[in-house]
Amino acid sequence: MKTFLKIAAASLVFGLGASALHAADPATVAEAQAKEFRDFFYKRFPDIKPSDYIYGVYALNEDARAQFEAMNEFPPYEDAIKAGKEFYHKPLANGRSLKDCLGEPKGLRARYPFFDTETGKVRNLEADLIQCAQAYGETKFDEKSKDLKAVSAYLASESRGMKVNVTIPNEKALAAFEEGRRIWYRKTGQLNLACADCHQYHSGQRARSETLSPGIGKTAHFPVWRLKDDGLVTLNDRLFGCVRDTRAKPYKRYGNEYLNLEYFLAYIDNGLEITGPAVRK
Ligand code: HEC
Repeated sequence: MKTFLKIAAASLVFGLGASALHAADPATVAEAQAKEFRDFFYKRFPDIKPSDYIYGVYALNEDARAQFEAMNEFPPYEDAIKAGKEFYHKPLANGRSLKDCLGEPKGLRARYPFFDTETGKVRNLEADLIQCAQAYGETKFDEKSKDLKAVSAYLASESRGMKVNVTIPNEKALAAFEEGRRIWYRKTGQLNLACADCHQYHSGQRARSETLSPGIGKTAHFPVWRLKDDGLVTLNDRLFGCVRDTRAKPYKRYGNEYLNLEYFLAYIDNGLEITGPAVRK
């Protein structure tokens, strides 16, 4: 109350109008939009505990959950975590390691994605890994590289149990978040479908042989070991695949569309536990 009075007094003294005081800060605007988005799902799925959205489709009912637990009995990604750890610490072509580039592995994944106020762009962990490795002379380390996926799995495992905590530091960051949100609702491709058509308005329903997961909990468990591919996929791989499946021309790998989409979806996941790598069908 006291602070409020002080601000009110200051605004009178400095001639600030009420509108200036109310010009909502970017973080508040994003939070209101995120609340509306999350509330849609809380209402649609009143039986899902908010913290259980990390399980994707397996949060929807007990049968699915039992299936999930069976899949996790023998985690298929353990070797990848080991390989990723080794790769992260070993000297690359120029004698320096990814650790020299990006630092301590503990908690690194939990700081991504974030809005880089210097470049005015969203930063994604795998994109930074690629940039580091290539700068260190590893030309084959790209979005398809097995080493990238292994390192991604290792770094996820080093942030397990931490919480998603994406911030919106300024107006430009809010613009990136809002662009991500627009892409979520934008219809694309020959099928003329938006992410929202499948993962919001039809979430919980079946599309061919698959149940459609809700829009909350899309990011915190990546990378994912897909049983179908018998291998790891990064979040960018998955977003790329979902855009392609609408028969749209996918956006450029790690281009702004995906970065902003990831930023929006990760913000939605704020407070959820980081559980990657995870297993999915
Ligand atoms: C034609 C329907 C359809 C559209 C449109 C679609 N997806 Fe998907 N998506 C699926 C299906 C089916 C799966 C696999 C089942 C599941 O987890 O929902 C999936 C899975 C995912 C996953 C992995 C979920 C997990 O738990 O690992 C993410 C992330 C995702 N989609 C994001 C998106 C985004 C972002 C868009 C928009 C660019 C999009 N999808 C558009 C059908 C769609």
